[in-house]
Amino acid sequence: MEKEFNKKVVLITGAGSGIGRAAAIAFAREGASVAVADITEAGGRETVALIEADGGSARFFKVNVTQAAEVEGLVRQIVETWGRLDITLNNAGVDNDMAPITETAEADFDRVIAVNLKGVWLCMKYAIAQMEKQGGGVVINTASALSITVVPGASPYNASKHAVAGLTKTCAVEYGKKNIRINAICPGVIRTPLLEKHPNLPALEAQLIPLHPIGRLGEVDEVANVVLWLASDKASFVHGALVTVDGGWTAM
Ligand SMILES: NC(=O)c1ccc[n+]([C@@H]2O[C@H](COP(=O)([O-])OP(=O)(O)OC[C@H]3O[C@@H](n4cnc5c(N)ncnc54)[C@H](O)[C@@H]3O)[C@@H](O)[C@H]2O)c1
Repeated sequence: MEKEFNKKVVLITGAGSGIGRAAAIAFAREGASVAVADITEAGGRETVALIEADGGSARFFKVNVTQAAEVEGLVRQIVETWGRLDITLNNAGVDNDMAPITETAEADFDRVIAVNLKGVWLCMKYAIAQMEKQGGGVVINTASALSITVVPGASPYNASKHAVAGLTKTCAVEYGKKNIRINAICPGVIRTPLLEKHPNLPALEAQLIPLHPIGRLGEVDEVANVVLWLASDKASFVHGALVTVDGGWTAM
């Protein structure tokens, strides 16, 4: 049977870890050629190795998504390698240091906005330009439940993810008629290596689980499944949407 993403070229930023890695492995398993892009070389190369061990096709691209020249170069290299770019998951992101706004450092605000907002803006700008040239594509941004609701102590992160929601909707309106489908996923708290490494995981979980009416945290594969569905033709009329994958958090 033909695999769902055979001959498709997929770019995933932040694919060296967590949600990005899970999506990269899932796309490769379905036949895609995956550009694994990350600022962290070790994590990115490990993702490629995992995909290749699984019989899939991937290549690592080192990129800092906050730098326009690097993102432009990334898209150019992908097209040089595979001839096109069909799907992009703009997923690289960072957390802020938790503090109320009066105690939040300007540098922390700048760092979070640079990666989570400017990084997504740059990736959209250069990926969409390529998709326009080739006559279509699919863009998915990793937003957050914190694109819809907020947690106190996270003013830079909340603001960056609310802005990604606005960016997603703006570009969906701009590019819908050009056969470029653009959506965002809004995950709740997902078990990623970062969370697993927390020194007091049980206490943290006791705080976070009650945010989710489903009664548990999410797994990376549960997010990857939604990304693949959104990227597929099964979601052909889903456009400009903020798709929650949050165990009901934002329903509360
Ligand atoms: N894990 C969660 O609970 C959760 C919930 C909602 C949204 N998200 C969002 O999902 C996305 C992925 O998060 P994750 O939990 O998998 O995190 P993660 O830390 O496991 O992975 C993020 C990856 O992004 C990379 N990265 C960071 N800055 C970069 C830069 N400037 N250029 C290129 N790559 C860079 C990191 O090296 C890392 O590999 C983020 O946008 C995050 O905000 C995560």
